[in-house]
Amino acid sequence: MSNVDDMLSSARAAMVNAYAPYSRFRVGACIRSEDGRLHAGCNVENAAYPQSQCAEATAIGAMAAAGGRRITEVLVVAEGAALCTPCGGCRQRLSEFAPPDTPVHLCGPEGLRKTMTLGELLPLSFGPHSL
Ligand code: THU
Repeated sequence: MSNVDDMLSSARAAMVNAYAPYSRFRVGACIRSEDGRLHAGCNVENAAYPQSQCAEATAIGAMAAAGGRRITEVLVVAEGAALCTPCGGCRQRLSEFAPPDTPVHLCGPEGLRKTMTLGELLPLSFGPHSL
């Protein structure tokens, strides 16, 4: 199994548990921490729409709770035909724990569609290095 395959299985398993009754757009994310462990998450929506949480944020929370502090790889999976890229807020959230050369795998349920780096997704980022 490649890096992407094990991350995709983990993200898909989270995606099917997404709580997305408002958008009906289910998303799964998987992040790998420095020690090689995988941390998955799904989107969790709320009737007060702005309180909804993206899959990436859920996965970051799971990593932090498990003691992880550095991200080495990210994978996002969604069901639609269009490429699902992390929203602006999640690019920033990821950059707190991941350097610009971190690969971000963008997937559909069938598999990998595109790999980009976090730096391509969030150029000239403001982060811990800026303070
Ligand atoms: N969403 C994510 O969870 N991650 C992304 O990368 C893009 C969007 C969620 C937020 C919301 O629950 C739904 O997808 C529609 O925007």
